[in-house]
Amino acid sequence: MRRRVRDPEIIAREQTLRAWLTSGRDDVLQRIDGLDIGWGGVQRWGTAKMPDVGTGRHLDFACGVGTFLAQVGWRFPNAELVGLNIDFAGPHEPIRGLLLRAGVQSDLVRADARRMPFGDDAFDSASCFLGLQDIEIGFGDDGVRAAVWEATRVLRPNAAVTLLDTFSFARFDRLLRESSLQVTDRAERALAVRWSRPVAERAIELYADGWADQARVSDLKERERIRSRAARRLKADLARQLASTGFFVPFGPVRMVVARKRA
Ligand SMILES: C[S@@+](CC[C@H](N)C(=O)[O-])C[C@H]1O[C@@H](n2cnc3c(N)ncnc32)[C@H](O)[C@@H]1O
Repeated sequence: MRRRVRDPEIIAREQTLRAWLTSGRDDVLQRIDGLDIGWGGVQRWGTAKMPDVGTGRHLDFACGVGTFLAQVGWRFPNAELVGLNIDFAGPHEPIRGLLLRAGVQSDLVRADARRMPFGDDAFDSASCFLGLQDIEIGFGDDGVRAAVWEATRVLRPNAAVTLLDTFSFARFDRLLRESSLQVTDRAERALAVRWSRPVAERAIELYADGWADQARVSDLKERERIRSRAARRLKADLARQLASTGFFVPFGPVRMVVARKRA
């Protein structure tokens, strides 16, 4: 049976899951951490626009703590889901609890997206939400290319991968030109989020830490250099945004590219 669930049902589920995820945190942290559920409406928009997953076997790679995986499960309740991430420790450790709370069932595979432990043509569709940017931080452009190559390999011919990231469309084009994928749709969406300075300043410290973690360097001084560089960049962006709009949107628009594996 194929069924694509509508937005109001998903919005209600987001609210319940956000309340669970952020319970016991102060007001500022509730706003910052609450963003993970839905990404200011972008995840919901993404699953509404992506090709129907139906009852197929769907891979969400670089699934992190599973927030997009949950959204795919909500939108396509009859899909057979597999989430892949390089680890399910630290900030990604809550994934099992999150999926349980979300009422979404998924196999979880701990693996590097650059070397996926699946055979060729193993999936009917795939997605990646803000995973390529993190793969780039840790493994560079070659890492991103390897992950897209692998995602293509494990898709069956004619199947679609939906990539959502902050990359420019030109960057996506360069990336996909070398693959056996053909772009069939593209769109972009801004986050429906407006943060005040106190929320933004706290978020920036947390994001700079996260950025340094993704860089995977063991030298503490180098880690601190990476962290401060990220914090400086984010603070400059905050100053620019406050001056022009009076509020802060923590991330640029998310761009979505849907591409099909050539038969
Ligand atoms: C910003 S998170 C993505 C958000 C996630 N898709 C979600 O829906 O919550 C990026 C994730 O990419 C993962 N990652 C980074 N490099 C990876 C790699 N080479 N293979 C698999 N996962 C990787 C990180 O562990 C992190 O969880």
